[in-house]
Amino acid sequence: MPASGEIQPRGTNRRRVLVGGAALGAAAVGTTLPPGVPSIALAAAHEGAGEPSTADPFTLGVASGEPDRHSVVLWTRLAPRPLAEDGLGGMNRRVVVVHREVALDDRFRHVVRRGHEWTGPDAGYAVHAEVAGLAPGREYFYRFRHGRHVSPAGRTRTTPAPGVVGAGLTMCFASCSQFEHGFFTAYRRLAEDEPDVVLHLGDYLYEYRRDSYVSPDGNVRDHRGPETATLANYRQRYAQYRTDADLRAAHAAAPWLVVPDDHEVDNNWAAEVPEKPHRPQPDFLERRANAFRAYYENMPLRRRNRPRGPHIRLHRTVAWGALVNFHMLDTRQYRDDQACGDGWKVCEDAADPARTLTGDAQEAWLLERFRDSRARWDLLGQQVFFARRRNASGATSMDAWDGYRGSRDRVSRGWVDAGVRNPVVLTGDVHTHWANELKADYADPDSPVIGTELVTTSISSGGDGYDSAPGDNENLRRNPHIKFFNARRGYVRTRITPGELRADFRVLDRVTEPGAPARTRASFAIADRRPGLSERHPG
Ligand SMILES: [Fe+2]
Repeated sequence: MPASGEIQPRGTNRRRVLVGGAALGAAAVGTTLPPGVPSIALAAAHEGAGEPSTADPFTLGVASGEPDRHSVVLWTRLAPRPLAEDGLGGMNRRVVVVHREVALDDRFRHVVRRGHEWTGPDAGYAVHAEVAGLAPGREYFYRFRHGRHVSPAGRTRTTPAPGVVGAGLTMCFASCSQFEHGFFTAYRRLAEDEPDVVLHLGDYLYEYRRDSYVSPDGNVRDHRGPETATLANYRQRYAQYRTDADLRAAHAAAPWLVVPDDHEVDNNWAAEVPEKPHRPQPDFLERRANAFRAYYENMPLRRRNRPRGPHIRLHRTVAWGALVNFHMLDTRQYRDDQACGDGWKVCEDAADPARTLTGDAQEAWLLERFRDSRARWDLLGQQVFFARRRNASGATSMDAWDGYRGSRDRVSRGWVDAGVRNPVVLTGDVHTHWANELKADYADPDSPVIGTELVTTSISSGGDGYDSAPGDNENLRRNPHIKFFNARRGYVRTRITPGELRADFRVLDRVTEPGAPARTRASFAIADRRPGLSERHPG
């Protein structure tokens, strides 16, 4: 079920895009194409005459992603019956054509690109259109047509040209949306912030069957289908999540850069090891292949990211002119198994320099990116807690970088040695907000701050959560480099300019009922060339 009501148009272009379809009645022939070429909407009306009435295939909305200076990926997936158990969304197994158009305005008066894509059951009826020939640093609007049905419109943008620093950008990042634990209001609030780009750092969905992962506040809705293992299971699960109107609004608002964490496959999986190796899954690599295939099908990724069996290459850098390099990391696929049996442990093996979280090839690639970087800001979009985080008994999380200390040391030293100007690590996974200063040596209080980490809470995982004063959390007392903690649901909104990165920790008081407002619980600034956090008055 959709989580809450649609945004009412407020007269701006962007608001109308989020309500989807509202602009169609005004569609006209674009001035940048030859006269006489009908727009998608007009063609739909024409072709629809005399056709049997069929269900809307655009129930899963639209999305865009992976922008560069002249192109962007436009995504949709046809599913007139999104919850169909075979994962094919009620499509009839034929290969079909989907038309698309890109315009300068949300009324599609100035259409600049048109084309079509074929899709069918092998692709799960997903469309990945890589539209090129666009201008750098520009906002665009896009939509699709299949038969007489026209999709909602989405808003996207290209990155600035190389070398251009620009005035700045608004980037929001999010993670961990458990459909059963709460409504996706935080996605709606993120969309209302009208970001230029969104990073999703994993746990976009959860694999569990109904009632096997219950929030402390009780589940507000149920997963369909069994624990995901087959391709049909994963396809059905993605479709169920996209039936949420708030999630669709977030995708329609901006291009996304995505990386999965564990639940897109299996809780706390590592390379070829599932969560419960003592309950062997002889086909874990097959399950992984199914999960990656459905992930690719449902995300606005480039064709070069298409998986091959159980392998998918997702680490990549997206440059935002000369202002930001987004280095998107994969900390699941190439890692060693968690040390000392996973969990929170005091574990000597965690310090073994031979252990790796990124894998050798990804680590070498990342260090090379550091050496090549000329950006003001180098942001690492990744999954698990980077800073040291010790509990009362001195234990640390074996699933996070604390369980792979050699990896953490090599990556941190890599950005220091390369002279990276402003390294900032972005993190999800832990369902709580944190702001951390990164140290060269966490054991030495006088060790310099060499970077900053911003950790986003969940969109809904864990239910409503709770508010807290920073001093209430023992982790802040025991880890002086950790400056902020909060356990409400929400996301992080950043404003990145040449001179500073400002982070607003956005929270909602409840997700067990739809419609809660978002507020900024705390704000921090990171100044150019000065790693570390200074608290700012929210507002
Ligand atoms: Fe999660």
